[in-house]
Amino acid sequence: YRLLLLFGGRSAEHDVSVASAISMMKALKDSDIDILPCGITREGTWKVGEEAVKMLASSALFAGDSDVRDIVPVDSQPRSVPEALSAVDVVFPLLHGPYGEDGTVQGFLELVNVPYVGSGVLGSSLSMDKIAMKKMFESEGLPITRYLGILRSDWLSDPEGIISKIESELEYPVFVKPANLGSSIGITKAKDRSSLLQALELASKYDRRLIVEQGVEARELECAVLGNDYPRASVVGEILPGDEFYTFEAKYISESSKTIIPADIPPSVSDEIRDYAVRAFKAVDAAGLARVDFFLTSENKVLVNEINTIPGFTPISMYPKLWEASGLSYPDLVRKLLDLAME
Ligand code: DAL
Ligand code: MG
Repeated sequence: YRLLLLFGGRSAEHDVSVASAISMMKALKDSDIDILPCGITREGTWKVGEEAVKMLASSALFAGDSDVRDIVPVDSQPRSVPEALSAVDVVFPLLHGPYGEDGTVQGFLELVNVPYVGSGVLGSSLSMDKIAMKKMFESEGLPITRYLGILRSDWLSDPEGIISKIESELEYPVFVKPANLGSSIGITKAKDRSSLLQALELASKYDRRLIVEQGVEARELECAVLGNDYPRASVVGEILPGDEFYTFEAKYISESSKTIIPADIPPSVSDEIRDYAVRAFKAVDAAGLARVDFFLTSENKVLVNEINTIPGFTPISMYPKLWEASGLSYPDLVRKLLDLAME
């Protein structure tokens, strides 16, 4: 395979995507998959060749671990994006967040008729927006936490009305999130009214759609899904957040979080989670890959938290680890994803 690896992008998860791309290129270094990297800047400009390599080399996360110049054969790189797109068999949009994971890039790739890894336009956009995602989960009958979707405009025009609506329907602590983003960026666990105000303020900086979710005392579990119309689920893993929840800092900066694979849970709970993971995948019409994140309460009640259609592939990321533990090596996993993209 010749693979165009799209990374970076306009979302606030730009740096996470760069880290994912470096990880993937390292893992595939000695495989028969030939990677052409294509970086998208924060402004949305697409870069190939030496400029893409420069973007990788200046990676902000997991820095010091990025000897990318040894990985990329710079002499065989295309000179332009159209040249790159016509030189490859398939594109891996390894982009997290809006303008990458949300159907926009997928729509472009449909237009130019190049096969790509992962969900199509509908699956990507339904999964990116946490409000739309939860509505799909609800209609599939999946157990989820209580939540409220809020328009930023409504919050700005009637803050008191919004606060009283939240306080009448949910109890503290609540999680306040931009509806369209990932990696816990812009997310706050609000424990009282004053932190709720700040939380809504922060989330409003990132999105015009906000979601407030009922906080639950629970373990955080994740399950990887692979396939198209008949997907299968991996073993279940557990996150031990190094912070009060699995924050951006705890994920990527302090590296204080730990993962346990497979999670130490009863087989019946694991079966339930794997079943929900596949149902969540189908509910949003995902394809190729997705990681589904769960809560497990002390009474062993399982709740579906969210689905990520382009999960992280960074050194700490669960998706490739869960498949490794399920018997699929990193290069075999990527080969399988490319096969699925060509189906
Ligand atoms: N949004 C990040 C990359 C994840 O889900 O892993
Ligand atoms: Mg996410």
